[in-house]
Amino acid sequence: VGAGAALGWLEPPPPGEVTALLAEVAAAAERGEACLVSAWIGGDLAGIGNWRRYPRPTHRENADIQKLAVSPAHQGRGVGRKLMDELIAAAITAGVEVLTVDFRGDNERAARLYQASGFSEYGRLPGFVSFGGARYDRVMYSRDLRVQPPAGG
Ligand SMILES: CC(C)(COP(=O)(O)OP(=O)(O)OC[C@H]1O[C@@H](n2cnc3c(N)ncnc32)[C@H](O)[C@@H]1OP(=O)(O)O)[C@@H](O)C(=O)NCCC(=O)NCCS
Repeated sequence: VGAGAALGWLEPPPPGEVTALLAEVAAAAERGEACLVSAWIGGDLAGIGNWRRYPRPTHRENADIQKLAVSPAHQGRGVGRKLMDELIAAAITAGVEVLTVDFRGDNERAARLYQASGFSEYGRLPGFVSFGGARYDRVMYSRDLRVQPPAGG
């Protein structure tokens, strides 16, 4: 976040906030409501990602990727792709039907990663994200896990 990662925070969150968030997601994962994955390189935490089922009973077959982040030192080396592969595989195993994710409109890296992982845009809210005095689109992607992606996707 300090280096400009668009993760929904205005400032880097205090460690205690991140710990509480991850503990909550891990507890939800125990109940089959969520999935939390991490990547480690040489003892370093290189990245994390998670999805969570939608809470509304009528949306429960579907889940949303809430966080996906790779440490700047390990970006551009396939860690994000590997985390996405694990999140998708776990979602298929859990019977999730549609996986969604949203991101800030200027986050081209995230867009390319999600496209390469079989996601496509289903909606866009112009100027929905306010950060540092500027406005950005909120871009919404989804992938229907019941449908095989095209070859190479
Ligand atoms: C987005 C993010 C998770 C990607 O993780 P990563 O480990 O760097 O990505 P990977 O090395 O696995 O690359 C996956 C794809 O991302 C794209 N990508 C990676 N590095 C890139 C770069 N420097 N420039 C442009 N695209 C890049 C490529 O399309 C790549 O696909 P390829 O393997 O076909 O080339 C990472 O950059 C990140 O943590 N960013 C900050 C937090 C964030 O924006 N999270 C997403 C919020 S929704």
